[in-house]
Amino acid sequence: MPLLKAATAVRENAHAPYSNFKVGAAIRAASGKIYVGCNVENVAYPEGTCAEAGAIAAMVAAGEIELVEALVIADSPMPVSPCGGCRQKLAEFAAQDVKVTMTTVAGNSAEMTVAQLLPGVFTAEHMKGV
Ligand code: THU
Repeated sequence: MPLLKAATAVRENAHAPYSNFKVGAAIRAASGKIYVGCNVENVAYPEGTCAEAGAIAAMVAAGEIELVEALVIADSPMPVSPCGGCRQKLAEFAAQDVKVTMTTVAGNSAEMTVAQLLPGVFTAEHMKGV
């Protein structure tokens, strides 16, 4: 499973000295290419960034704006749940039916669609006519 392998590998590079909670994310873009990200914390805590945000930034920097699958992994007792901000970031670049796999290092895994992760998502449709 390429996404699992990629997210597991990049998780090792996470910079998480404050939470000690390393997260890896991998997304498959419309081209089929896989982009990865890890959380990058900062001593000024709010400046830290999530693994999902890193993977999305890598995809956009490479010239792609559509993701068709995502996976996030952490050493957590239950499948790791993307934060609210990352749910909105995923929704920016993914169709509502895109599958997001949340998993643990031990293999405890769950799947949700982007729509299930963020019901009532704010979209460009809301700004029509402005
Ligand atoms: N974190 C992620 O990178 N992704 C998630 O889905 C959940 C949380 C990070 C942010 C922070 O560096 C650490 O996990 C603890 O919250």
